[in-house]
Amino acid sequence: MKNIKDKKEDDLMEKIVSLCKRRGFIFPGSEIYGGLAGTYDWGHFGLALKNNIKQSWWKKFVDSRRDMYGIDAAILMNSKVWEVAGHVANFADPLDGKKFNTMLKTEVGAKKEDVAVSYLRPETAQGMFVNFKNTVDAFHPKLPFGMAQIGKAFRNEIAPRDFLFRVREFEQMEIEYFVRKEDWEKYFIYWKDEMLEWMEEIGLDMKKVHDIEIPEGDRAHYSSRTVDFEFEYPFGQKELFGLAYRTDFDLKNHKLDYIDEENNEKIIPHVIEPTFGVDRAVLALLLSSYSEDEKDGEVRSYLKFKPSIAPVICAVSPLLKNKSDLVEYANEKVFAPLKAEFGRVIWDDNGNIGKRYRRQDEIGTPYCIVVDFDTLTDDTVTVRDRDTGNQERVKVEELKNYLKEKIN
Ligand code: GAP
Repeated sequence: MKNIKDKKEDDLMEKIVSLCKRRGFIFPGSEIYGGLAGTYDWGHFGLALKNNIKQSWWKKFVDSRRDMYGIDAAILMNSKVWEVAGHVANFADPLDGKKFNTMLKTEVGAKKEDVAVSYLRPETAQGMFVNFKNTVDAFHPKLPFGMAQIGKAFRNEIAPRDFLFRVREFEQMEIEYFVRKEDWEKYFIYWKDEMLEWMEEIGLDMKKVHDIEIPEGDRAHYSSRTVDFEFEYPFGQKELFGLAYRTDFDLKNHKLDYIDEENNEKIIPHVIEPTFGVDRAVLALLLSSYSEDEKDGEVRSYLKFKPSIAPVICAVSPLLKNKSDLVEYANEKVFAPLKAEFGRVIWDDNGNIGKRYRRQDEIGTPYCIVVDFDTLTDDTVTVRDRDTGNQERVKVEELKNYLKEKIN
């Protein structure tokens, strides 16, 4: 029999999966045809959440740095990439006493003589290695420098499970950071700290994040040192993100090198690889943010997203939807300018105010703005805070700045 803690944790997963479907975050893939295991479709709010996570990552690790070069490589790659990178031989899980390669195989080309085997990439990393020379030739970066990519990856997982945790189609955010061999340890530690900083920044529950040194034998075929960041999911403490020291394994195999212009020396840079799964980031964030409390004698559930990450920053409501002067004011003077400025703003005039608040709490909207009769005379509105339930009056002309400050 399950103990009470396990039961509570199972309930939490169920609540999150059900909320995600009901409120338009995440749907089971191909649902009307019975689904396709290991795939999910992203609804409007889930997509907004995912985009905000990706944007925050890109801003921190690419846009705010001088040493990072973005790339968006093709998902389909020449099968030689995967032979040379060791994936054809090693990217496998045990199944019935044999090794089962988890790369998703496909065929490219129409005419029989042109057909070539290809794979949907199982990691975005190789898209960066094969463009190493292009990037060096185009931008002439000095070591250390990095390449960054966000994109889809595919794995024919033997047992997809636990909602977004193990799926067959997912997204990765990866960095390949090229350093001199003698500097690898320094940058390994540096990237470990950077990764932790970002996790905290997006609002993960850091008490549930643990860094685990992976022993030799358990590491991927390309790695000489790996630290996994594990998260305490309801189904156990498991991998969230990873940090690997890939040595010169990939560049050497692809026969790529780098001319160090300072002393005109040909070297093969070594690689530190911070890797982040977007889907696991979303799951860990949902689990970190889901909260329940009692308000007015009722249990309310809410998602405690930071304003910078929340799918919706604020909802705008006229106090009563049948009073045209309130509706007109709310629409023209509040909703329209905020929508134009932030995008992530919604109109909600359904049911009474209490119901609207609950609905917004449930999807994690940090602020609800209500236009009432006082607004018509003093040009102020009520702004209600999701976490505390506190309300304050804010001048309509100050709303944009008020929200901008909260987002940063
Ligand atoms: N380039 C290195 C690499 O791919 P990995 O640990 O195999 O390393 C990186 O994958 C990240 O991708 C993981 O830390 C995890 O967040 C995510 N990931 C891997 N397999 C996944 C799956 N089947 N479903 C969801 N996310 C997955």
